[in-house]
Amino acid sequence: MRALICDRYDGWQALRVGEMPDPEPLHGTALVRVEAAAVNFADLLVVAGQYQVKPELPFVPGNEFAGVVETANGIEGFTPGDRVCGFIGMGALAERAIAYPGAIMPLPETIGFDEGAAIPVAYGTSYHALVDRAGLAEGETLLVLGAGGGVGISAVQIGKALGATVVAAVSSAEKADAVRTAGADSVIRYDQMPLRDGIAAATRGGGVDVVYDPVGGEASELALRSTNWNGRLLVVGFASGVIPAIPLNLNLVKGNSVIGVFWGRFNLEEPEKSAENNRRIMEWVVDGTLRPLVQKTYPLSDALEAMRWVAERKVIGRVVVTP
Ligand SMILES: NC(=O)c1ccc[n+]([C@@H]2O[C@H](COP(=O)([O-])OP(=O)(O)OC[C@H]3O[C@@H](n4cnc5c(N)ncnc54)[C@H](OP(=O)(O)O)[C@@H]3O)[C@@H](O)[C@H]2O)c1
Repeated sequence: MRALICDRYDGWQALRVGEMPDPEPLHGTALVRVEAAAVNFADLLVVAGQYQVKPELPFVPGNEFAGVVETANGIEGFTPGDRVCGFIGMGALAERAIAYPGAIMPLPETIGFDEGAAIPVAYGTSYHALVDRAGLAEGETLLVLGAGGGVGISAVQIGKALGATVVAAVSSAEKADAVRTAGADSVIRYDQMPLRDGIAAATRGGGVDVVYDPVGGEASELALRSTNWNGRLLVVGFASGVIPAIPLNLNLVKGNSVIGVFWGRFNLEEPEKSAENNRRIMEWVVDGTLRPLVQKTYPLSDALEAMRWVAERKVIGRVVVTP
């Protein structure tokens, strides 16, 4: 099969499109013909050898896909021909990928493959973060950093669906337009004004209850300083490349909490809860409450361009490769 291949840990520029053997579906898994695979920021980290897991070389990157089951090898609930989308860890940027139980879900006919590929990681992570980890309540104020990116825009939509007032922080006019369309109540251009001034303006001098933080760096502490009593900062990722060190006295004096989010591990530790979350997410996608945003699609031959788009901080929502 044709695939995007990582032969050495030298970043996305060193990837190539070539031939790899078809993956073998072990008992209890399915072989899926991939129609679309979304590119995640984490894929850039994996192929640079900067991620928690370091697959044996050569390997195929890509951690989420939508497609059609070709072979169902004893996996419960799926048969050949079923439309599905799912999370895989690696191997999605290819013509075929393996689907694991608990990590795939049926893709309704009304949802396109491109949109389907953009659902599992972003919406799974944001739902888990906002509902399970933060307990975001109706009427609370949610600040989303990096709100125009893949996980960010899903957090804006889920925050609105949960009845929160959503403040979205972004670095460009295009991203500001996108988060407004996604439902943000107010937008901070943190490339143009200090983040804390933006939060004060958006909350009329108040603070925020929950911070969704996929960015890290100096923004984390600034956002934590703007939380209300009982505030929660969700540690989702470090797209800025900087893991911040937060002074704990802030937690003491403000009575707030810093809460870790690791959706991949949550799937393994709490598979039934994760499946229930996925059912809820898909219901919301089908009824239009959530709207996966696919900014661009690329054929597999241009997969490096898709990687470049994400690496250069241009992606809004997701970009998708269509093998
Ligand atoms: N904890 C988990 O379970 C989990 C799950 C999924 C993803 N993640 C992590 O979440 C982070 C975001 O993932 P994603 O796929 O949503 O990425 P993405 O689509 O590339 O979005 C990242 C956002 O971060 C902001 N950013 C700030 N500094 C940046 C920089 N130097 N380079 C690139 N972006 C920068 C950008 O927004 P502005 O330009 O507006 O600042 C961008 O929109 C990653 O670190 C990823 O590993 C964690």
